[in-house]
Amino acid sequence: MNTPLEQKMAQLKQHPVVVPPHPAWPELNNPQKAKLKEEIRQLLQDKNAVLVAHYYTDGDLQALAEESGGCVSDSLEMARFGSQSDAELLVVCGVRFMGETAKILNPEKRVIMPDLKATCSLDEGCPADLFREFCDAHPEHTVVVYANTSAAVKARADWMVTSSIALPVVQHLADQGKKVLWAPDKHLGHYVQKLTGVEMLLWPGSCVVHEEFKSVALSRLRKLHKDATILVHPESPDEIIRQADVVGSTTALIKAVKDLPNQKFIIATDEGIFWKMHQLAPDKKLIAAPTAGEGASCESCAHCPWMGMNSLQNLKQVLETNKHEILIDENIRQQAVVPIRRMLDFAATR
Ligand code: 13P
Ligand code: SF4
Repeated sequence: MNTPLEQKMAQLKQHPVVVPPHPAWPELNNPQKAKLKEEIRQLLQDKNAVLVAHYYTDGDLQALAEESGGCVSDSLEMARFGSQSDAELLVVCGVRFMGETAKILNPEKRVIMPDLKATCSLDEGCPADLFREFCDAHPEHTVVVYANTSAAVKARADWMVTSSIALPVVQHLADQGKKVLWAPDKHLGHYVQKLTGVEMLLWPGSCVVHEEFKSVALSRLRKLHKDATILVHPESPDEIIRQADVVGSTTALIKAVKDLPNQKFIIATDEGIFWKMHQLAPDKKLIAAPTAGEGASCESCAHCPWMGMNSLQNLKQVLETNKHEILIDENIRQQAVVPIRRMLDFAATR
């Protein structure tokens, strides 16, 4: 007979996260984009605000963040940048956990986002009450959560990690003989477990974008492009990771395109990353790893629908209206900041 907790966990696995349709923004021509960007730049200046964007957002947003003195980066650097900036207002273009992390670290600053509905399948698939029950049932484990979680989940964790620092943090815990409870991405957890050999209990979450990569179609594509280097984000399933030449965070994959002498790459991660890769290595050939495969349905098509909720249009709107502010209960914030600071302090020693 299953325990009540096991029954709830089984139910969680049976109810996949509802993926919203990709938002359809009206096409803008170049003069319209230039006008919008200029207006946003002015608003940012007037409000002493800075843009913090993720590599998976639209290229226009990434360009604007860079041009206006903000930052475009992976989730670790987004967290760091927000804390180091003098701006009073942080405008986070990405998904909700990124805005929440910025607020947790910077309670004195206002944090707004173009659309607060921009969530993440990993965050959605890890409800805080069930997660707490899961942790309470395994008190002998050190709780490590991925950044892609709610503030309430982080509040129950010992450590928070991003994909760029997950391996060294878990290795550090392994060196102390610790057992790890890992949530929510089972694929990243499995990858870390395989490389570190640590005993890990995995929450059954996944990313709807990376879950869609198809291994048979990828091996076929590799045969067509024998000279291509395969780059894979570790949120991908094991059968995709096993075909990779480089596995790493968004920053690591961008660095590989820029620094490796190779001219052709097959890339298994969100297609938003191509903007930065093209910018840094304009002559290199970038091929998207196959998602749908033959006869398969494609929910994400290698673009996160939640990242797609950020646009120039709603960015301008939120700056004008001051709506969509991230607010976090102070009690939760004080608990959630502990595992994030632990990660940042650890990162600073490396
Ligand atoms: P990175 O930390 O590698 O940027 O990943 C964030 C993310 O959500 C990937 O899906
Ligand atoms: Fe979450 Fe996946 Fe979107 Fe990243 S790409 S924000 S992990 S759903």
